[in-house]
Amino acid sequence: MAYALLKGQLIKVLVDFFETDYRRIAHALEVLQQAELLQHNYTHVDREVLLASALLHDVGIKPSEAELGYNDGATQEEYGPAVVQTLLESISFDADKTRKVAEIVGNHHSRSRYSYVELEILKLADLIVNRVGTYYSPSSSSAEAHAI
Ligand SMILES: [Fe+2]
Repeated sequence: MAYALLKGQLIKVLVDFFETDYRRIAHALEVLQQAELLQHNYTHVDREVLLASALLHDVGIKPSEAELGYNDGATQEEYGPAVVQTLLESISFDADKTRKVAEIVGNHHSRSRYSYVELEILKLADLIVNRVGTYYSPSSSSAEAHAI
């Protein structure tokens, strides 16, 4: 499938899943943007796997919060893969790639158990977006906001 078409499909899946949780939707789009820049520094990147992983990496948050009342890195990894499986099946995403995306989402907050380049890029992209987010959060003073 053409990359742009798949990207549109996955963004719709993401938005439908998170509904009015705009912060999580915006975060996923920022992580994708960062991952798309970073991927040029790597070889043998499966762009479709990276695209799906970046957009769906935090989907475990929603069932974790619904069932446990909280989420953290461990619960995101626990709940995320099953959601990824369901969401990617809904758009007939390749089964082998779906398994890989589920593994990546289930490992994005802990020491890497897989040597996937897409996992490495996702972790770095998420870190960069989260770091920049702390500098630019609305609660930051304007001095902090201009510190970088
Ligand atoms: Fe994230």
